[in-house]
Amino acid sequence: MTEIIFATNNAHKLSEVQAVLGEGFRLLTPRECGICEDIPETQPSLEGNASQKAHFIYDRTGRNCFADDTGLEVYALDGAPGVHSARYATDGHDFEANNRLLLKNMEGITDRRARFRTVISLILDGREYLFEGRVEGRIAEEPSGAEGFGYDPLFIPDGYSKSFAEMSAEEKNEISHRGRAVRKLVEFLRG
Ligand code: IMP
Repeated sequence: MTEIIFATNNAHKLSEVQAVLGEGFRLLTPRECGICEDIPETQPSLEGNASQKAHFIYDRTGRNCFADDTGLEVYALDGAPGVHSARYATDGHDFEANNRLLLKNMEGITDRRARFRTVISLILDGREYLFEGRVEGRIAEEPSGAEGFGYDPLFIPDGYSKSFAEMSAEEKNEISHRGRAVRKLVEFLRG
């Protein structure tokens, strides 16, 4: 069993990623490793934030770890909310407020194309590796579904007529940005 720290305290993300990693790996949270401070993410790009978070954990523990950063990039909004996805509407992670603001900013826009992009920074034996996963889709006119989190109720992946929030965790993981990035990470870790 390989233990590795995942630099997140988001329970949804933890279980999504653990499901993709499978039984050979045990994910540890920062809290389990005695890190209770907020992990900073102050960089202007997903790559920068993932790297900053992984280094923050590595500097304090010296243990193998990884961090991810995800953004919803809407083509007609020049890539917004992008790196600001978590704090689009407010200072906190208010998913409903974010979704309301996104729909408001897309009023009258017919080009609904968007993508989720995840970047993972892995620090393994002191060396950093980056992995990326993407899923293309479009922003619905209104939210639907109750699964998942964040912008899931508004995101309809290409080839589907339902949102991420109408999918089971397994179905979402198979095609999602994070699922794809994590599978690249797992392939690398398994060697
Ligand atoms: P984070 O960098 O992974 O914490 O993601 C930043 C923000 O992007 C989150 O607060 C969510 O609003 C959104 N987000 C990230 N991953 C997903 C997802 O899988 N579905 C929907 N929204 C997501």
